Amino acid sequence: MSPSLGDMEPAEAESVYFNEYPPPKALSRHEALARAFIDLHVEANRRVVLVTSGGTTVPLEAQTVRFIDNFSAGTRGATSAEYFLEQGYAVIFLHRQYSLLPYSRHYSHSTNCFLDFMDEAPPSNGSMDGSVIVRNEYQNQMRDVLRKYRYAKQNNRLLLLSFTTVAEYMFELRAMAKLMRPLGYNALFYLAAAVSDFFIPRSRMAEHKIQSSEIPANFRDNAVAGDEIYTGENENEPAKNSKKLIIDLDPVPKFLHRLVDGWAPDGSMVVSFKLETDPALLVYKARTALQRYAHHLVIGNMLSTRKWEVVFITPDAPYERWIRVPKSRRSKSISGAQDQVGLAEIKKGEAGKANETDQPPSVGMEDGVEIESLIIPELVKLHDARIAEKKAAAQ
Ligand code: PMT
Repeated sequence: MSPSLGDMEPAEAESVYFNEYPPPKALSRHEALARAFIDLHVEANRRVVLVTSGGTTVPLEAQTVRFIDNFSAGTRGATSAEYFLEQGYAVIFLHRQYSLLPYSRHYSHSTNCFLDFMDEAPPSNGSMDGSVIVRNEYQNQMRDVLRKYRYAKQNNRLLLLSFTTVAEYMFELRAMAKLMRPLGYNALFYLAAAVSDFFIPRSRMAEHKIQSSEIPANFRDNAVAGDEIYTGENENEPAKNSKKLIIDLDPVPKFLHRLVDGWAPDGSMVVSFKLETDPALLVYKARTALQRYAHHLVIGNMLSTRKWEVVFITPDAPYERWIRVPKSRRSKSISGAQDQVGLAEIKKGEAGKANETDQPPSVGMEDGVEIESLIIPELVKLHDARIAEKKAAAQ
């Protein structure tokens, strides 16, 4: 039996994994775009952050009809990207296709349909139809978002690149990290994507749509063995009358090792996220990840409280810092971006104690404080300190 990728050394797992899949069709186009984007910002001595966002999919069939998805709307990534742009960073936004995007996120969610922000002005100059306009009460907020969006676009500060499957994500992450090498310590990795932990290796994947009902025997004679693996109780037998779908998944190699030790530029800063649902595990799992991958920061968050509290786990003191949006500032409406000053509640070594009955505000238009407006400035301070340290060491 061949060893699982999870049992291999990181470099070997990398070569086996990447040889198994063809590169994504968009990869060379994405690389060309990223190269030009990075060159521009290297020239300007500007910091560049790679923000990963949204969930990855694991296809069950090569000609994919069904897939397993990972939870993430892309809110954390899209919101964080806006605050990085505000801090002067250029942003490569590597996101799940159709997940939330910086700026348009304010108007794209189904609970915030953009049409609800529009109106028709009274007709003028003899015309039968009035122009379509933004409703009065949304003018200021929309103008603010529009200006920031235009600024980012016109000044080449934001590059949008998408992925869908976990394999595409891995190819893109590796390519972007290598392209970012000329940035050195000006490169930051902010890995907020929810990356699948389990997958079906290409060699064991059914080619065609997995069948849910019996296929007549004369059709079965021509079937490819792999088509039946997931349809029956016994992988060597045809599906008979069983409607069960038994899926056998392998662990996805943890390429965070390779990112930190191989792909990313020397001196760059790598920040990963840790998502948990059991509060008793969060800090432990985040610290274990930091020790295992030897990177620079793990931001821990709980599924139920992620919109108003996170924990920074660092290799140096204070080791554990909670960042919270005060309860009174966790309300809904259009823009959380306005009132950001002095709201960080950062306490050393304090376990998360959010009110369990509170629900996170809905995605999109929130007039409370967005926690990313607190996370990003704190993270930028850590990046500043790391750059200062690298510069001092180089002298
Ligand atoms: O988008 P939202 O709805 O706002 O949700 C945001 C979020 C909760 C998804 C986000 O804040 C978050 O926690 N993202 C990370 C989720 C996750 O994948 O956690 P993890 O514990 O499975 O992985 C930890 C880290 O390892 C991640 O940074 C991931 O990039 C990395 N990883 C994971 C799997 C894998 N095979 N290789 C990896 O390198």
